[in-house]
Amino acid sequence: MSAGIHLYIVTGASRGLGAALTRALLKPGNRVICVARSRSPELEADIAASGVPVAWHLQDLSQPSAAAGWLGSVLDAVDETPASVTLILNAGVVEPIGPITALHETTLIPHLLTNLATPMTMTGAFIEHTTRFDCARKVLAISSGAARNPVPGWSAYCAGKAALDMFIRSVNAEYASVPEPRAVRAVALAPGVVDTDMQETIRGADFAAVQRFRDLKANDQLASPEDTARRIVAYLDRPDFGKTELDDIRNY
Ligand SMILES: NC(=O)c1ccc[n+]([C@@H]2O[C@H](COP(=O)([O-])OP(=O)(O)OC[C@H]3O[C@@H](n4cnc5c(N)ncnc54)[C@H](OP(=O)(O)O)[C@@H]3O)[C@@H](O)[C@H]2O)c1
Repeated sequence: MSAGIHLYIVTGASRGLGAALTRALLKPGNRVICVARSRSPELEADIAASGVPVAWHLQDLSQPSAAAGWLGSVLDAVDETPASVTLILNAGVVEPIGPITALHETTLIPHLLTNLATPMTMTGAFIEHTTRFDCARKVLAISSGAARNPVPGWSAYCAGKAALDMFIRSVNAEYASVPEPRAVRAVALAPGVVDTDMQETIRGADFAAVQRFRDLKANDQLASPEDTARRIVAYLDRPDFGKTELDDIRNY
C-alpha cells in the first residue's frame, strides 16, 4: 500500500446501502476492504472498471469471534500507514419481525449477533489492530431511526440498534483520550428509509405500521441507496466527524 491511501472497511457490501457505499468510495486514493456472505458481479465489474484496489472477503458476520479474527488479520496485512482508516459497520438484518410474545432464541440470537455483537467485536479488533498506524481512525455504525423511536413488531431490531448506539457512545467514552494523530472517533448514523432489499422484507412483513412502508414505496418516497451513500461518504469527510455521536443523515 502506498502512503497516503484512505483505507475503508465496508461490512455488508454485497447489496443495498453497503454496495452503494462501496461504489461511492471508488475514488483515486482510496482502498476498500469489502465483506459479506455473497458476491455481487455487478459491483465487482464496477470495481474492476474503477481501478481502485478493493479486496472482497466472504465472511458470515453472525459469528463475532470469527469476524473479529478475520478483521485483525486483514489489518495486520496492511503494509504501510494509511492517511486514514475507517470501519463502516453496515451489515444488518431486520428479521425477526413480529410480536414480543413470539420472540425465540433461534431467531433472536442470530439477529443480535449480526446487528450488535459482531459490530462490537469488530470495533475492538479495529481499534487494536490499527494502533500501529499514526492516522485518524473512524468508526461509522449504520444505525436506524428505530434505535431512537420504537416500532411495534420490531423489538429485536429496535433493541439491537439502540444498543449499537450506546456501544458507539461507549467507544467514544473509552477512547476520547487517545491523542491525535491516532484519535478514535465513532458515530452511529441513521440513514433514512432507503430503497433496498431490507425495505422489501419490511413491506412483506406483518406488523401494525406496515402500510406506511408500502405507501412510501408506492409514492416513490424512499431514498435511493446511491444518494444516501454519497451523502454518507461526504459526512465521513466532515472535519467535525464524531462531534455528534448519534446522528441522522436526514439532518444534512
Ligand atoms: N434500508 C433501510 O431503509 C434502512 C433504514 C435504517 C437502517 N438501515 C440499516 O442500513 C444497513 C444496510 O441495510 P440495507 O437496507 O442495505 O440492507 P440489505 O439490502 O438487506 O443488505 C444487507 C447487507 O448486510 C449483509 N449481511 C446481512 N447478514 C450478514 C451476515 N450474517 N454476514 C455478512 N453479511 C451480512 C448482506 O450481505 P449478504 O447477504 O451477502 O451476506 C447485505 O450486503 C443495515 O444495518 C440496516 O439496518 C437500513
